[in-house]
Amino acid sequence: MSLTGLFLISFLMVHLVGNLLVFKGDNGAMFNAYAHFMSTAGIIRIAEIILVLGFVLHIYSAWKLTQYNKQTRPQDYICNRADVNSTWFSRNMGLTGSMVLIFLVTHLHNFWYRYKFQAEIPQAAGTDYNDMYWLVQTVFQQEWWFAILYVVAMVFLGFHLAHAFESAFQTLGINHKKYTPLIQILGVLFAIVVPLSFAAMPLYFLIF
Ligand code: HEM
Repeated sequence: MSLTGLFLISFLMVHLVGNLLVFKGDNGAMFNAYAHFMSTAGIIRIAEIILVLGFVLHIYSAWKLTQYNKQTRPQDYICNRADVNSTWFSRNMGLTGSMVLIFLVTHLHNFWYRYKFQAEIPQAAGTDYNDMYWLVQTVFQQEWWFAILYVVAMVFLGFHLAHAFESAFQTLGINHKKYTPLIQILGVLFAIVVPLSFAAMPLYFLIF
């Protein structure tokens, strides 16, 4: 669970850096070149298969872990102050993860599927490939409810990451007097900065 989680976290970082190209101020030229590379390069096809496997294994491990926890403790604790001995984020990983999964299905349809299979996407200026910048702009401006949905989904992503980051290191046995507080601070920063940066994109197109 922690290994696939850390792998997905590394994907998020790469994905965020690529997406930040929309802010470059070149009318999406670099972003379009990046999106074209992502949809055509052979190495990315291999990365995509590993990514799908990462998501599937992560969800499967979550399901298995829940089953295991239920089997080892079939009846509830008589006294369990969950609010005292655990955080809201850790108790609701199933809920926040499911929200991110629903977002992902919508998201892949919006950009991955439409870019590849929808006929009316114009070509990027001076190129022979589709204009991904136009697509992102059109979705967030004309179908503005998606922009709202994306921002809400990023709140859930933040909640999910708020527990995931630190927990992944703990599961791997990295529990150290000196380093654990640092990992905790990094985890909180990551859970705020990454979703906020992602949310900046729909908000940017919605507002400007
Ligand atoms: C909210 C801001 C986001 C925007 C504007 C955005 C935009 C895009 C775009 C334009 C693509 C197609 C081009 C590419 O492959 O990079 C894409 C693909 C993808 N996105 Fe996002 N994304 C966002 C957030 C996320 C998040 C939070 C996740 C994961 C939880 C995610 C997962 C994916 C996946 C799995 C693909 C397919 C990658 C591939 O086939 O190579 N995205 N996204």
